[in-house]
Amino acid sequence: MTRTVEEVVALWEAVVRSGGAVGFPADVPGREIETAAAALHEGTVQGTEHMLVERGAGGLRGLVVLRPAQGNLFEHRAAVTKLMVEPSCQGAGIGSRLLERVVDSARQRGFLQLRLSTRGGGPLPEFYSRRGWTQVGVFPRALQVAPGVFCDEHWFHLNL
Ligand SMILES: CC(C)(COP(=O)(O)OP(=O)(O)OC[C@H]1O[C@@H](n2cnc3c(N)ncnc32)[C@H](O)[C@@H]1OP(=O)(O)O)[C@@H](O)C(=O)NCCC(=O)NCCS
Repeated sequence: MTRTVEEVVALWEAVVRSGGAVGFPADVPGREIETAAAALHEGTVQGTEHMLVERGAGGLRGLVVLRPAQGNLFEHRAAVTKLMVEPSCQGAGIGSRLLERVVDSARQRGFLQLRLSTRGGGPLPEFYSRRGWTQVGVFPRALQVAPGVFCDEHWFHLNL
């Protein structure tokens, strides 16, 4: 693993283990996060995904990914995924800053709209709606976060 991938794995695993909503249940085997981080790295090398990071003295403190939609019908839009901040640094403005940066980056790349999905049942939907995103739908019980434990998935849209 390259240093960057190792850093992403360490951040992603810390966020997942603390209950963060970034693609995995809290008890996922570490190797699944390693595989996902390697795929993300490959996507950034190929240019199918763009990763923005925040660094501090101790290393990587947060990241977010911009994923352009594929196909002629969808060239005007992109998805924001994997917004995550190291648990000991949460609540200090880093996530808000990353979200602003990824929106600016999408605008500069010429996208006209963004979408994202997030886990319901906690502060996340409010986090996005307070920052100008519009909720466009909810998939009831779309996410099984533990055996027999379901969360709604909230979908958001932002015009650029
Ligand atoms: C959600 C997250 C990215 C926000 O980043 P942050 O740096 O902690 O947040 P900020 O300090 O910029 O802003 C604080 C806001 O985040 C909200 N928030 C959501 N989850 C939070 C958490 N675990 N800790 C602190 N604030 C959190 C607060 O309610 C607050 O909302 P408000 O300002 O609208 O009142 C971050 O908490 C995180 O990484 N959570 C775990 C991963 C996750 O669930 N990501 C969402 C992917 S869709």
